[in-house]
Amino acid sequence: RISKMVKICCLGAGYVGGPTMAVIALKCPEIEVAVVDISVARINAWNSDALPIYEPGLDEVVKQCRGKNLFFSTDVEKHVAEADIVFVSVNTPTKTQGLGAGKAADLTYWESAARMIADVAKSSKIVVEKSTVPVKTAEAIEKILTHNSKGIDFQILSNPEFLAEGTAIQDLFNPDRVLIGGRETPEGQKAIKVLRDVYAHWVPVDRIICTNLWSAELSKLAANAFLAQRISSVNAMSELCEATGADVSQVSHAIGKDTRIGPKFLNASVGFGGSCFQKDILNLVYICECNGLPEVANYWKQVVKVNDYQKTRFVNRIVSSMFNTVSGKKIAILGFAFKKDTGDTRETPAIDVCKGLLGDKASLSIYDPQVNEEQIQRDLSMKKFDWDHPVELQPMSPISIKQVSVVCDAYAATKDAHGVCILTEWDEFKTLDYQRIYDNMQKPAYVFDGRNIVDVAKLRKIGFVVYSIGKPL
Ligand code: NAD
Ligand code: UGA
Repeated sequence: RISKMVKICCLGAGYVGGPTMAVIALKCPEIEVAVVDISVARINAWNSDALPIYEPGLDEVVKQCRGKNLFFSTDVEKHVAEADIVFVSVNTPTKTQGLGAGKAADLTYWESAARMIADVAKSSKIVVEKSTVPVKTAEAIEKILTHNSKGIDFQILSNPEFLAEGTAIQDLFNPDRVLIGGRETPEGQKAIKVLRDVYAHWVPVDRIICTNLWSAELSKLAANAFLAQRISSVNAMSELCEATGADVSQVSHAIGKDTRIGPKFLNASVGFGGSCFQKDILNLVYICECNGLPEVANYWKQVVKVNDYQKTRFVNRIVSSMFNTVSGKKIAILGFAFKKDTGDTRETPAIDVCKGLLGDKASLSIYDPQVNEEQIQRDLSMKKFDWDHPVELQPMSPISIKQVSVVCDAYAATKDAHGVCILTEWDEFKTLDYQRIYDNMQKPAYVFDGRNIVDVAKLRKIGFVVYSIGKPL
């Protein structure tokens, strides 16, 4: 346990910073936690009843601690100056310009955070990399912090986050592991111990893994690459299933029973999305290339290529099924978020599928229980990689696309539609009244299930033409 009162400050009140710090505050009542951000709108939302992100269980945790030992503020410098431990959980987007464009991580926000910490610090601090960063970032951060350091001691730790959206609170309460990397010096080991003591409030110590800095940084990229690779593997299999009459759900079930393979992350889909998988793999690819390892780079690049292919294949299937044109046809899009139980749309496969259909002149009627019209219009108008910046720095939403309408339930979306695409596995889509939907659609009525959640036999019996990923046609 900690001997003296510890103050924590976290830079970046996003999907990671917000929930992670709220859970630390809940589990460590004697620690004061301040979450700060340059985005005024985000901080205001964290201090209101409508939190800026939707995450099951988050509201309760925040309500229990906010104003007691959990604070959200835009007074970045004050809280950093007072803190013993500074977590940095800012955006680390893919670079869009210059060296490494389209692959390398853009560390602009990270670097400006580090410079600010160096400027305002008056006492020793542990600086924790919470953002996902390229391996060796700690070395660069150390240089920035210690240059001009006025004799202040900074210890850098890498403590990557493994939570998944939609289950963030559960994942934080009961993590498979917590990873802490630090310098192998006595000071580095002491810093590791301070952070380990924070997590030890609720995480069994045998689940807290301590390594050197580079192992911790690389393990994060490796974990995401392995997870995404499983999805691309099963998605590649899904096309072979369609060609041969095998059923991908049955294949996944059968191979997942092998304890060496395991059952998780074997759901075939329209493709993986989310803010991190693609970004982190591209980042890994870039690091391999920079280290002169083209074969390793190409191996991982293939995971992203298969994912892009899966999305394109889905769009092509829709268009070819509907007599090779969707021009002027109404297509209902059920689900826009990148997975269920989140309102997050970053890199959602829905963006690529919708853009593909719009490219073929379809008119889209979109419904997602957690995503509003403004967000959808913004996503469909934005350029690749432009989303991952603090809200205030994102490009303004251009005029809205008129072939896109956003409606407030699945029945409105599907009324008079020629086809229905299910792009997010929201539970409510499993229990829709498909007979009612069928009765109100144009015929032949198509369902393209990008998440394998509908009962294919039942829908076919109603009269739908059904395409499900990796299932016999
Ligand atoms: P986010 O965009 O939700 O949050 C980042 C926040 O940082 C924004 O609110 C932004 O305004 C703020 N910010 C940027 N520069 C700042 C500065 N200099 N000072 C203070 N605040 C600043 O992003 P996120 O999803 O929370 O991801 C953050 C990092 O965590 C990324 O590196 C990501 O790869 C990693 N990560 C994300 C997840 C996830 O599920 N989203 C999981 C694990 C790791
Ligand atoms: C993922 C990892 O699971 C986290 O461990 C990690 O911390 C996080 O990335 C990160 O670094 O940001 P997340 O992206 O929130 O978490 O959600 P996942 O559950 O991993 O889903 C990612 C995408 O893969 C979603 O689009 C999901 O629908 C898709 N997916 C997932 C499949 O298509 N099939 C599956 O079997 C599993």
